[in-house]
Amino acid sequence: MIGSIWAQAHRRAIGAGGALPWRVPEDMALFRRMTRGCPVVMGRKTWESLSPKYRPLPGRANIVVTRNPDYEAPGAALAASWAQARMLAERGDDAGTPKTRASAAAPGPATHEAHAPARRSRAQDAPLAWCIGGAQLYAQAIADADLLCVTDLDIEVPQADAFAPEIPDCFEIAAALPGRGWLASASQAPAGSAASGGEAGPVAYRFTLYARPEALESPALARLAQLLDSRGQAAATS
Ligand SMILES: NC(=O)c1ccc[n+]([C@@H]2O[C@H](COP(=O)([O-])OP(=O)(O)OC[C@H]3O[C@@H](n4cnc5c(N)ncnc54)[C@H](OP(=O)(O)O)[C@@H]3O)[C@@H](O)[C@H]2O)c1
Repeated sequence: MIGSIWAQAHRRAIGAGGALPWRVPEDMALFRRMTRGCPVVMGRKTWESLSPKYRPLPGRANIVVTRNPDYEAPGAALAASWAQARMLAERGDDAGTPKTRASAAAPGPATHEAHAPARRSRAQDAPLAWCIGGAQLYAQAIADADLLCVTDLDIEVPQADAFAPEIPDCFEIAAALPGRGWLASASQAPAGSAASGGEAGPVAYRFTLYARPEALESPALARLAQLLDSRGQAAATS
């Protein structure tokens, strides 16, 4: 089964100038908890945005999507399309092998209506793989995603140039932290961004897990909902 995980500011902003416009440790901790042990698929630009110190992301099979067959991503597998990456990630065998390229015919994009039965059976037993960005990959993965893990940040990023997709209406909120209102991050609103109300201060954030109806009863979702609540040092503001 497929999940997409991202953090977004106002206007669904996720990036600026090829980088994350903020540093919110609670979000990074959630990302690690949620993706640990699972294959992660990312676009070539997101791979390049990771510090060489932290790539490949440890404890996870890394799959990088690029149209460049000669691209070098040491420690990661390569895929020529989102569909091929998904196949590699769900199969789980080749993922993580450096310079591996998927060669078998890849399945086409799924639509909700046509693939509900397949989604339902996948949701019961298939291992979870994550799309971890960026904007181009999220846009392609959303049609196949069973689950979404979204961190909302209550900041405006005027210089944003990468955006998350709109969440389709068929997704339901499966879990949220906090249930209402926001948590206060240990980090301050980054330079050039404005916290809600224009005031400087800690970044306010909240986590939401969304699922398609077919995935609402899945064991993977139940496990993720538990992980969502292991929030470390976060403090509720309302
Ligand atoms: N806030 C968050 O949670 C979050 C998470 C991840 C990333 N980000 C941000 O998102 C931004 C990067 O996003 P982006 O949209 O610019 O780039 P991206 O999605 O990370 O990567 C785009 C690249 O992926 C490859 N690609 C995309 N679709 C493909 C396809 N169908 N077939 C083959 N290759 C394909 C292409 O690589 P080639 O050009 O090599 O062919 C393309 O240039 C950065 O600012 C990053 O910091 C934010």
